[in-house]
Amino acid sequence: MLNWNIRSPHQPQTSASTQARFVESYQRTLASEAVGFFRLPQNRELLRATEAVHQRFQHKKFFIHIGIGGSALGPEMLLGALGNSSGVDFIFVNNIDPDDLSRKLERVDLKEALIYVVSKSGTTAETVAGMSILLNQLEKVGVRREQYKDYFVFCTDPERGELRRLARDWGITALDIPANIGGRFSVLTPVGLLPALFAGVRAQDLLEGAENIQKHLQDPTIGKEFYELAFWLKDLHDQGVVQTVMMPYSSLLKEYSAWFVQLWAESLGKNGKGLTPVPAYGATDQHSQMQLFMEGPRDKVLFLIEVESFETDFSLKSQVDSECFTILAPFKLSQLMKAEFEGTLMALQENGRPVVHLRIPGLRPEYLGQLILFAECLTVLVGELLQVDPFNQPGVEAGKKYANKWLKNHQ
Ligand code: PA5
Repeated sequence: MLNWNIRSPHQPQTSASTQARFVESYQRTLASEAVGFFRLPQNRELLRATEAVHQRFQHKKFFIHIGIGGSALGPEMLLGALGNSSGVDFIFVNNIDPDDLSRKLERVDLKEALIYVVSKSGTTAETVAGMSILLNQLEKVGVRREQYKDYFVFCTDPERGELRRLARDWGITALDIPANIGGRFSVLTPVGLLPALFAGVRAQDLLEGAENIQKHLQDPTIGKEFYELAFWLKDLHDQGVVQTVMMPYSSLLKEYSAWFVQLWAESLGKNGKGLTPVPAYGATDQHSQMQLFMEGPRDKVLFLIEVESFETDFSLKSQVDSECFTILAPFKLSQLMKAEFEGTLMALQENGRPVVHLRIPGLRPEYLGQLILFAECLTVLVGELLQVDPFNQPGVEAGKKYANKWLKNHQ
């Protein structure tokens, strides 16, 4: 089970009565219909619908995933962390860089591809652009409109948006993103579950892991440490600690940091408030950002994730007669990771840097499910403490409006 400890010299400032008030209002938030992500572990219908789509298209050799923001970062995280044992070749169309897209499409045989278009709104320009390009490419290889249903699956709002309309008009299978779940909270919906199934991941294990965290948070006694963490983050925020470093000691969780960045930034950064997320991963970033984390401005809290056991390992034994080799020789590679993790944790504490030490037993779907629901729930609670709405993103609309204006002016 995922667990965490606060390692910090900072003392909590929030009074017990304020804490009790927030816990109560947070429990109400989680129970409200507006918050769908929290109840996903019980939504077996969505999983069944996703499994049926997987069954139908599992002969496909390429999986082209078109989406951006919350419609891409979650699936990329799942694949990055859990790998792909199925042999299906994944292509993520997650940006609008023509050179990048052209390189990615070079290796694809479109006739063997499933194109998964993911957009909650069904109107996001970058995703629409990706879909248009793929439609044009299909036309070039002779695929006609009545055959689109054999190449496309959509994932979108159950009722609204252009993608839903096109799905109806063209007879394309469309999976639901429940209306009460926004993009960055959607990884455990078909948004992430379908790519996970195609990669050979047991999607059910992800949901079962998330369910453990759900139960944990609902238990007033053991859930206490979760609330303590959120209050502590809020206190730190009020003392000017306004940056959050997410640093798993695992290359495979690099995309977890990227996913967390969007969740934390887009949910909490509003009304002049927010905590700036900083993605990192160990041990690599010890040779990059760690100097800043250790001795730079005291404005950062670090989340260090320890993966307690790795699936594989390497011996470091060596015949080289040199101290830098012989010191490593009795150990395995995972033990060097452990040593570097512990060393950094100790040094950060000695320097009075606030740290949260998270631990998962291994990189398996159930533990990733736990890490996901943990971060989502923490985001919502910190949002409540900062008095911001974690579910909207009004700040990104202005840029979109100007981009649209530009397009109209340059027709
Ligand atoms: O979290 C969010 O809601 C956003 O970041 C969206 O995921 C992103 O803007 C993509 O939107 P859509 O899924 O509607 O295409």
